[in-house]
Amino acid sequence: MRAISYTVALAGVLATTSAMAQCDPGEEVIRFSHVTAEQGHPKGEAALLLQERVNNELDGRACMEVYPSSTLFNDDDVLPAMLRGEVEMAAPSLSKFSSYTQSLQLFDLPFLFEDMLAVEEFQNSDAGQALKESMVDEGLLGLEFWHNGMKQFSANRPLIQPSDAAGLRFRIQPSAILNAQIEALGATATPMPFSEVYAALESGGVDGQANSWSNIYTQSFHTVQDGVTESNHGILDYLVVTSTTWWDGLDPELRDDLAQILLEVTHERNRFAFELGELNKIRVRQDGVRIRRLDAETRAAWVSALAPVWAQFEDEIGLDLINAAEAAEGGL
Ligand code: LMR
Repeated sequence: MRAISYTVALAGVLATTSAMAQCDPGEEVIRFSHVTAEQGHPKGEAALLLQERVNNELDGRACMEVYPSSTLFNDDDVLPAMLRGEVEMAAPSLSKFSSYTQSLQLFDLPFLFEDMLAVEEFQNSDAGQALKESMVDEGLLGLEFWHNGMKQFSANRPLIQPSDAAGLRFRIQPSAILNAQIEALGATATPMPFSEVYAALESGGVDGQANSWSNIYTQSFHTVQDGVTESNHGILDYLVVTSTTWWDGLDPELRDDLAQILLEVTHERNRFAFELGELNKIRVRQDGVRIRRLDAETRAAWVSALAPVWAQFEDEIGLDLINAAEAAEGGL
């Protein structure tokens, strides 16, 4: 199938629209499932560009269908479905692999990375690249890391000091480390699929959440919160993943061509994730929502409130891996 698509460049942000057509007989069908918005979102835009390039450049050999916004599977279901052969690619956040590997939990440690450059530097290191193969025994292979951005806390009342979170209920991604962070704040954690978060915040089923600017804006979380606190306390990043059975079974030439296209799309789109996050932060502000910055002293109070979480998970994750991640300096 050839993609019917157009791409416009807008302030360094691609807005790609593509219409899904039926795959032609004989083409390898690649279903790509994800849970976020398609447009104005780092993962959505990257998946669309991947679809466009695969369908143009591998026409007659492969055909990609992207299913955004949990329309095929939500993140709780997508990895079991991949192992059953019901979907070929996905890009869950790094917080969603703990049933398959303990190593990727590393990325949930609070205040581990200073900024996205540090994340990029670590992921490109030998230790970072080795993580892609950490689930091979479970039948899953990581192909590339995709960026989203740093995470910010929000709630239905002002969050300035860490003690402001005490007694509140926060939605978390299903991760023991994220659970421990919320407990360290004296709050209660509720794991919940991404697709249910807005309704839970709106109805008061939960009081707050933590997510990137791009996720907050494209899901309208900010519209049902008191404000957003620019805590930058963690990262929201992705691993593009596939099943080893499907990947190993591909024609080797097709596999190489697909891997090369994915690598190029990764480089192209990861460059824009930070910029897109900043744009979405401005959009949150333009909606009239209060953004609270932390001064150095208040930030130190958050770092210290969440610090006990490190000791709890050091053995599970491994000190060598933590040290390697800490060594990545980033910096702008
Ligand atoms: C979340 O569940 O908050 C995120 O993992 C969603 C996503 O894919 O960015």
